[in-house]
Amino acid sequence: MIPDQEVFRGKKILVTGGLGFIGSNLSIKLIEMGAQVLLVDSLIPEYGGNLFNVRDIESKIRINISDVRDEHSMRYLVQGQDYLFNLAGQTSHMDSMQDPYTDLEINAKAQLFILEACRKYNPDIKIIFASTRQIYGKPDYLPVDEKHPLRPVDVNGINKLAGECYFILYNNVYGIRGCVLRLTNTYGPRMRIKDARQTFLGIWVRLLVEKMPFEVWDGHQLRDFTYVDDAVDALLMVAQSEEAEGQIFNLGGDCVISLEDLARLLIEVNGSGDYIVRPFPPDRKQIDIGDYYTDFSRIHSALGWKPKVSLREGLRRTLEFYRKFLKYYQ
Ligand SMILES: NC(=O)c1ccc[n+]([C@@H]2O[C@H](COP(=O)([O-])OP(=O)(O)OC[C@H]3O[C@@H](n4cnc5c(N)ncnc54)[C@H](O)[C@@H]3O)[C@@H](O)[C@H]2O)c1
Repeated sequence: MIPDQEVFRGKKILVTGGLGFIGSNLSIKLIEMGAQVLLVDSLIPEYGGNLFNVRDIESKIRINISDVRDEHSMRYLVQGQDYLFNLAGQTSHMDSMQDPYTDLEINAKAQLFILEACRKYNPDIKIIFASTRQIYGKPDYLPVDEKHPLRPVDVNGINKLAGECYFILYNNVYGIRGCVLRLTNTYGPRMRIKDARQTFLGIWVRLLVEKMPFEVWDGHQLRDFTYVDDAVDALLMVAQSEEAEGQIFNLGGDCVISLEDLARLLIEVNGSGDYIVRPFPPDRKQIDIGDYYTDFSRIHSALGWKPKVSLREGLRRTLEFYRKFLKYYQ
C-alpha cells in the first residue's frame, strides 16, 4: 500500500518539530500532496531544527517559531487543524541523563498540554505521535514486537513512554483520535549531522563527507534502520487509516546489520573513507541496549507498510545530499 495522494489535499495540518529531520521531510511530502501546512518549532540550537530543511517549500508553508512547552501558544495553534503530526521532541539519550527535567518537560509534560489543547479547542483533530524503540530497553528477544516488555534504560525512554501513553489514553477516554509509531533508527537527508545527538550515523556521515575517519564504538551491536521516506509513508498511512486509531505500531528496517558492517557499507557506498573501532565510553555503555531490531509485521498486516528503500540506496541518497549541502549542516 502507498499513502493515498488525495486524502490531504486542502487539509490543514500542524507539524510540531516541523523544521527537524523527520518533520521537514514529512512537510515536503504534504505540500506535494496539496495540504496547508503549519510548522511549529522552537529551533533550540542543540536539536535538529534547521530552516534550510524547508528551503524548497518555504513559500508554501507557514512557520511559527514557538515551543510546545508554551501551553498558551499550543492552545491557539491546534485550533482549526485537521491533523497534527507531533514530532517535536528532545531526542538525545545522553542529554536526557544530564538534563532530565528538560526531557520531561518536552517529551511528557508538553504532550499533555497539546492533548488538553486538543480536548478543549479541537477534539476532532487526528494526532500521530512519533515514539521510539528506546522504550523497550535491552531486548529479551529479537526481533522486538509491540508485545515486548517496556523497560526504558534512560530518562528519554521513560518520558517518551509517558508521552505515548497520554495519546492512547486520550484516544480511548476522550475520543481524540491518535496513533503512535515507535520509530527505530531513522536516517536520510535533513538529519542532524553536527554531532551524534540525533543519531551516531549523522556524525559518521559528516566526517566521511569531510574526509575524516569516524569512530565505531564496539561495532558488534545489531541494528535496523528506516530511511526517512519510508518513515514519512508510515506517518501518512496511519494518519489516513481509521483502523490505526488508538493503535501502536513499530517501524523497522529492510535488513539487520552490525555497526561495523554498516561502517563498511557506508564507506563502500561513499567510494572512500576510514573508521576507527573504539570501546564504548563508560557513560554510554550504561544506557546502551545491545542488539536491537524490529518486528514490524503488525503495521505490515494492518496497513501493508514495509520499508521500500534499501539501506544501500538510502545511504547513497543521504551521502549525495550532504555532499551537496554540507555547509548548511555543519
Ligand atoms: N530520528 C530518529 O532516529 C528517531 C527515532 C525514534 C524516535 N524519533 C522521534 O521522532 C521525532 C522527530 O525526531 P527527529 O529525528 O526529526 O528529530 P529532530 O531533532 O530533527 O526534530 C525534532 C524537532 O523538534 C523541535 N523541538 C524540540 N523541542 C521542541 C519544543 N520544546 N518546542 C517546539 N519544537 C521543539 C526541534 O527544534 C526539532 O526541529 C522525535 O519525537 C523523536 O523522539 C526519532
